[in-house]
Amino acid sequence: MNATSQVPAIELIGIDKKFGAVHANKNINLTVAKGAIHGIIGENGAGKSTLMSILYGFYQADSGAIHVNGRPVAIHDSQSAIAAGIGMVHQHFMLVENFTVLENVMLGAEGGALLGKGTETARAALKKLEEDYELEVDPDAVIEELPVGLQQRVEILKAMYRGAEILILDEPTGVLTPSEADHLFKILGVLRDQGKTVVLITHKLREIMAITDTVSVMRRGEMVATRKTSETTVEELAELMVGRRVLLHVEKGAAKPGEVFLSVRNLTVKDSRGVTMVDDVSFDVRAGEIVGIAGVAGNGQSELLEAITGIRKPASGEILINGEPVAGFDPARLRSLGLAHIPEDRHHMGLVLPFEESLNAILGYHHDERYGKGLFLDPDAVRRAALDEIEKYDIRPPNPRLKTANFSGGNQQKIVVAREIERDPKLLIVGQPTRGVDIGAIEFIHRRIVETRDAGKAVLLVSVELDEIRSLSDRVLVMFAGKIVGEKTPDTGEQTLGLMMAGIAA
Ligand SMILES: Nc1ncnc2c1ncn2[C@@H]1O[C@H](COP(=O)(O)OP(=O)(O)O)[C@@H](O)[C@H]1O
Ligand SMILES: [Mg+2]
Repeated sequence: MNATSQVPAIELIGIDKKFGAVHANKNINLTVAKGAIHGIIGENGAGKSTLMSILYGFYQADSGAIHVNGRPVAIHDSQSAIAAGIGMVHQHFMLVENFTVLENVMLGAEGGALLGKGTETARAALKKLEEDYELEVDPDAVIEELPVGLQQRVEILKAMYRGAEILILDEPTGVLTPSEADHLFKILGVLRDQGKTVVLITHKLREIMAITDTVSVMRRGEMVATRKTSETTVEELAELMVGRRVLLHVEKGAAKPGEVFLSVRNLTVKDSRGVTMVDDVSFDVRAGEIVGIAGVAGNGQSELLEAITGIRKPASGEILINGEPVAGFDPARLRSLGLAHIPEDRHHMGLVLPFEESLNAILGYHHDERYGKGLFLDPDAVRRAALDEIEKYDIRPPNPRLKTANFSGGNQQKIVVAREIERDPKLLIVGQPTRGVDIGAIEFIHRRIVETRDAGKAVLLVSVELDEIRSLSDRVLVMFAGKIVGEKTPDTGEQTLGLMMAGIAA
């Protein structure tokens, strides 16, 4: 990289953007050097996607200027962004599912020239791009039949085909396995070596440290710092993101496992179409230990949790709680046996968003005598109980009367976590506890889960975040294609677990 001698690839000058009352970008200045991988990091809602959408012409800034290669450009739509040499790989791919790779790459490409030259010329051009950037993918494969990692490669190819010199990727690894993510990083390295500029948006500190040359941090709509990656640390970046010191590693002592509390025996679960999603799975969870299930989303973890928590009837096999067979019990009956559940999809299962906070704080436990007699809830008692949890879990704003929909994702998650853990369960089932939650709240939720274990409870954790599994679990089970393909200790390397998650090695 020889960036210092060149004009910057991108300069954003005083970019400001409001959505109604939300000030998404506040007078943002950003300089991206040519031939660099520049990371943009920040918590959810910090304004990263908005800023990049302005650069790509999806949104118009209320004020400010964009310079590309030292010249001011007006970017009013994606066509003008492409004309300025900017390409973008979105969080959600924009491919036509039933078209081939080649068709997708050609689709809507600038210049009738390409259409005129016909498919064979395009095919040759695509082949050359694939070779130049190590982006192999079969041009005749249909998109919907490709794994996500390859679909993403097609998005990158599409941008390069349109002549992108600057490539923006918005949270590209959220949908990838660890090995797919590694491959993507390799590709980004090749792009940089070929003189392209890459802007990588992520909220994952590890990715920033692994791949970027420079990193800019956003917080609440502001650009708060830019650092050379080699001159910063994850601790500093986390503090800049959150605005206070954050403990990144869960501090926990050794587990003291007791008796088996949850036992799953030869469990098979089918989805609503009759497809086997959990295939003859057996494992135990003891009191006082956290058993983590690692896996790429969609390998049966959700259905496994649904069966254990009484939401879905298993097709066959047994579930035992404290030795009692409970397969097919409804959630209320399971709760009375000491099961608590932090569901992975809190919007559908964990919370009723139009209700006030206090009602969600007791949801599922409203028959408890504390909250009123007979059929009637005592709203004051309910709100008092809710306020206790609000204080203990630092739920903001601290208002039990506020509609639940008006809390942020992290605070909604804390409402569910508080409700389930404060019931003093014997068995805690946790699905994706920190999905969409900011690192400040992640730290807090992780601490509570470990405290639950230390109080002698059995904890079963499912997460697609390998870091979360490794830092919380005492034992790690890997799930692939509906089966538990192995058990490992949590200090097992990411590479090894990643291969197991991809079904490659046991
Ligand atoms: N189209 C929109 N309409 C209204 N508010 C929006 C829109 N897009 C983003 N926002 C808000 O702007 C803020 C920044 O969002 P975003 O740029 O998506 O953050 P990030 O990508 O860092 O998570 C958030 O509060 C978000 O809710
Ligand atoms: Mg975003």
